[in-house]
Amino acid sequence: MAAARRLEGRIAYVLGGGSDGPARPGEALPMGNGRAIALRLAAEGATVVVGDKVLARAEATVAHLDGPGLAVEVDAADPASCRAAVTAAIEHGAGRLDVVVCNVGLSGREPLKVQSLEDWDLASDVNVRSHWLTAQAALGPMLAQRSGAFAFVGSTAGVYSSRRSLSYEATKAAQLAVMRHVAVRYADRGIRSNAVVLGNIDSALVRREFGDAPGAARAAVVPMGREGRPEEAAGAVAFLVSDDAGYVTGQSLLVDGGVSAAWPVPPVVS
Ligand SMILES: NC(=O)c1ccc[n+]([C@@H]2O[C@H](COP(=O)([O-])OP(=O)(O)OC[C@H]3O[C@@H](n4cnc5c(N)ncnc54)[C@H](O)[C@@H]3O)[C@@H](O)[C@H]2O)c1
Repeated sequence: MAAARRLEGRIAYVLGGGSDGPARPGEALPMGNGRAIALRLAAEGATVVVGDKVLARAEATVAHLDGPGLAVEVDAADPASCRAAVTAAIEHGAGRLDVVVCNVGLSGREPLKVQSLEDWDLASDVNVRSHWLTAQAALGPMLAQRSGAFAFVGSTAGVYSSRRSLSYEATKAAQLAVMRHVAVRYADRGIRSNAVVLGNIDSALVRREFGDAPGAARAAVVPMGREGRPEEAAGAVAFLVSDDAGYVTGQSLLVDGGVSAAWPVPPVVS
């Protein structure tokens, strides 16, 4: 189905728009959430600036955009780099910036007992600090335009404990606080801010961390009986940053196949 052209003429910046996991069998381009979001925003008419720590990954995304784009190198752990990438996006848009998607995020593996300072600090820098710095740098043109939309790519681990990584859970919760602050503080100046809170997504990130095996165990806890796809995360983001969500701000849209709606009992066989 062809995407609606809801973002025609808009300038979008995606932080973490490459992908570094293995491709699915038959997949031409490894698909992660950030990459799928960049492709979807372009398919809806936006000019997309793709930022990634590895320039070649951003370039691979831009090469597949359905429309114009720009690849920029950015290290989310480096504040100056975060700001410079937003400046590059604004220059590419000749002073405009309409959509900013803060996707970059490191998952981590350390529960409380072994949580290290290094892991905590890196997760904090990449998963939260880079997002507020990016939002702050993007605010200037959005305030001048009196319009703009932010989307933050969150995780259910920021709302419910996954028992896995303390730094991931804590930083993903803090990310939602940043999202809400931006929403409430600038709501009266035409700026909206929302998050997609993702459950199990069959992305390059998950294949990298858990291997290529089909996620049967992960899918078993999902009422829909399957993992989500990066393209489905992208569809939710495209809605939130479009005018179709014109009266939606400060919200966390759960994209989890129904996991968060379910009481944890074994599935009923019907
Ligand atoms: N896949 C899932 O099941 C799932 C679930 C919940 C939330 N998420 C969220 O999705 C987001 C990431 O998804 P993805 O599929 O795009 O991941 P991904 O691993 O494919 O990463 C996207 C890109 O981020 C880049 N990157 C890594 N560190 C960086 C840094 N310091 N600076 C700039 N770029 C950097 C990588 O080079 C990669 O190209 C995260 O915010 C994660 O929390 C994923």
